[in-house]
Amino acid sequence: MEKKNIDWGNLGFGYIPTDKRFVSNYKDGAWDEGCLTSDANVVISECAGVLQYAQTCFEGLKAYTTEDGHIVVFRPDLNADRMIASAERLEIPVFPKERFIDAVEQVVAANEAYVPPFGSGATLYLRPFMFGSNPVIGVKPATEYQFRIFATPVGPYFKGGVKPLTIRVSDLDRAAPHGTGHIKAGLNYAMSLYNIVDAHNCGFDENMYLDAATHTKVEETGGANFIFVTKDGKVVTPKSNTILPSITRRSLMVVAKDYLGLEVEEREIFVSELGDMAECGLCGTAAVISPVGKIVDHGKEICLPSHECYGSCNSETLRHSHRHSDGQNPCSRRLDKSY
Ligand code: PLP
Ligand code: COI
Repeated sequence: MEKKNIDWGNLGFGYIPTDKRFVSNYKDGAWDEGCLTSDANVVISECAGVLQYAQTCFEGLKAYTTEDGHIVVFRPDLNADRMIASAERLEIPVFPKERFIDAVEQVVAANEAYVPPFGSGATLYLRPFMFGSNPVIGVKPATEYQFRIFATPVGPYFKGGVKPLTIRVSDLDRAAPHGTGHIKAGLNYAMSLYNIVDAHNCGFDENMYLDAATHTKVEETGGANFIFVTKDGKVVTPKSNTILPSITRRSLMVVAKDYLGLEVEEREIFVSELGDMAECGLCGTAAVISPVGKIVDHGKEICLPSHECYGSCNSETLRHSHRHSDGQNPCSRRLDKSY
């Protein structure tokens, strides 16, 4: 199979339409058998449930080329399970698990020329999604839906690739207790857009969301879970009912415990503990494992060893994770900001 002429090494995280996508429609209480199509456009009523009341959920997973030339997809069964959970919470009819996996395989096979070569740093990102497609004007579920999966070759999610990120503790919330934080609903992302634009404008790569009820516990970012390493070498990750159960994070915890023999713990993590962490990373399909170098909590800086200053700063504390109480430290380039 001849690959497309794409500069794989310089791809960002963007949308490049590929040859085929899978489409199945739900009507009269059943999903049709679905098919691959070249048509990248969706035509729906102006009053479609998705447009009026955001009745939509999605997934994200990746296909990779292995060293020996095979194409593999990372744990699509878990994406299928999670999409079922999302659909149930949003009153969308479930797309069956085995059909989800089959559709993923069809899309990858039909777009083989777009699966980046091994070692290029790029992958083929798959985006399954479903939405209410018929007119709905009273607040109620649609009766017709569309399920689609498209594919797009992608590079790193964060600009500049894997380099230590600077994040801020957010004042705005992502998910309410008993809300929809644990599912992959489009609405969770729509309401995070204001905050991510503001974070970028203030010089931060991402927002660290806290639990909405007490604002004392670490939840996740807008598009990734957190994973920490404590100073005594334990791998810890936030336990919360209002974060998305990341497949990457769950996989990493298994690797850490069963393959690397590390002590792992899923527990509540308080903001007040952040200064005691030796390492912090974001993890997710798009985010991969992205190191966090600095967390800024309302002017207080928590520098972690992966911070870009590490090694060049004359600061022993940076090597041991340290909470700075003011901007007068070697890592304070962004501390003149007030917020
Ligand atoms: N948290 C949020 C809010 C996400 O959007 C994602 C991305 O899917 C993740 C976490 C990571 O989940 P996963 O590892 O399954 O991609
Ligand atoms: C993913 O990692 O697949 C996501 O959906 C996260 C999104 C921020 C791109």
